[in-house]
Amino acid sequence: MPPPKPNPEFEALLDYLKHNRGCDLTGYKRSTLIRRFQHRMRQLNIEDYPNYLEYLQFHINEYRALLNEVLINVTGFFRDQAVWDYLSVSLIPQIIRQQPNQVIRVWSAGCAGGQEIYSLLILLAEALGIESCLQRVQCYATDADEAALQQARQGIYSNSEVSSIHPEWLEKYFQRTESNYIFHPQLRRRIIFGRHNLTQDAPISKIDLILCRNVLIYFNSNVQMAILVRLHFALKKTGFLVLGQSETFNHHRAIFTAVNLKHRVYTKGLALDMKEHLFISPKTPQKVTVEPPSQSCFWQTAFETSPVAQLAVDVNGYLVSTNEQANRLFGLSCNDWQRPLQDLEVGKQLGFQILNQPFHRHHPVVLRNLEWSSLTTTKYFDVTIAPVYDAKQKLLGITLAFLEITEGKKLREKLELTNLESSALKNTLQSLTSELNIAQIELASVRQEMKLLEDTFDIDRSINGSIDESIDRNKTNTNSN
Ligand SMILES: C[S@@+](CC[C@H](N)C(=O)[O-])C[C@H]1O[C@@H](n2cnc3c(N)ncnc32)[C@H](O)[C@@H]1O
Repeated sequence: MPPPKPNPEFEALLDYLKHNRGCDLTGYKRSTLIRRFQHRMRQLNIEDYPNYLEYLQFHINEYRALLNEVLINVTGFFRDQAVWDYLSVSLIPQIIRQQPNQVIRVWSAGCAGGQEIYSLLILLAEALGIESCLQRVQCYATDADEAALQQARQGIYSNSEVSSIHPEWLEKYFQRTESNYIFHPQLRRRIIFGRHNLTQDAPISKIDLILCRNVLIYFNSNVQMAILVRLHFALKKTGFLVLGQSETFNHHRAIFTAVNLKHRVYTKGLALDMKEHLFISPKTPQKVTVEPPSQSCFWQTAFETSPVAQLAVDVNGYLVSTNEQANRLFGLSCNDWQRPLQDLEVGKQLGFQILNQPFHRHHPVVLRNLEWSSLTTTKYFDVTIAPVYDAKQKLLGITLAFLEITEGKKLREKLELTNLESSALKNTLQSLTSELNIAQIELASVRQEMKLLEDTFDIDRSINGSIDESIDRNKTNTNSN
């Protein structure tokens, strides 16, 4: 059956997204795309594509809502259990046997909220033991959807989300909080999460096991082939590819050989002439470089996991990105992206002038001692605001890095108080000393007076004694006469 004729109004929408938002959906199956776009348009009571295009242009948050609709993130722990049993009993032991004591590299491509890569990591830890798994396993988990990646990075799941995990593993690999489950932090750090578009970005290389499940179904057969070629390139000679249950190869060239068709497990088939396949369209050749992981993936991860809270804001004052630390500190999530910074609590507390810093020769500006108050606590920060320019020196926006100084400030204040107290004590001591001196002087003068008195008293006593003596003598004389 010939493919349906393209609808120019719908193509204009895709064209707008590609050129104005950097989001290329042209390789996705039209039938799926149209269904998802129309679903979103119905929610907004918009009937035709030109009106929806206008809506997209004037509502900055709509782009994210649309992407959520298109890139459906349906997933789950140990989704399609039979495949996981096969992995655990057959494939993982084989990979471990193949390369004793060497690093094992696995990649969940289209990882959605992370459940797939965490499930795989649990099986690897079960097979190797946690200690050896920490040393030997390197995981990559990528997706085109930043919102899904945010959840994946956090590794925090609700009761219902973890309900498909064996209770013994839940106990062993998760920390239970009041309302959630958090994946084993040490093992989580073995995973590099990164934004990666399977149709555009260079593949990761030297991988032992790729899970790319329930992703290809969204694409037309040309794009599926281009993705498969990238995955072929990413695998080691001895590596395995696992696809989703409803995914098969429809291509006449068998670039992969089925290891287990029921579970959609494949290994490398033919050696490929890459140049033949890597072009999705002749106009936009895709260059493949072997760089594990890609630089952007590396920097993205570094930004996300930095201990310093960071925000990125575009020239129009809209929040573009936040890292984990900033989310925790300011109660943000990726749902706040594309919102004006000044509408968010953190923006309100920072003040509007923050976006209008005069940057002298591209140098960052540091605002010291800014206060951030929440219901429970007050914190203080030195905020470094750095301008971001493109290659042509056009200002793209700013980044804000929040260095917390609360402890230092508290210590300084304590020190100042102690200094004040000690100088007050010194003053008291001084006045006590001078009072003591005065008292001593007074005592000495009293002593002197007393001595004088005593001396006078002695003279008096001797005078009195002489007088008494002469009286006695006179008395005796009188009697004898
Ligand atoms: C249905 S989920 C599958 C999740 C997981 N692999 C599983 O099977 O449980 C499909 C995922 O593919 C991602 N995706 C769609 N297009 C993509 C692309 N071009 N590059 C990378 N990921 C993509 C979506 O964002 C979504 O998270």
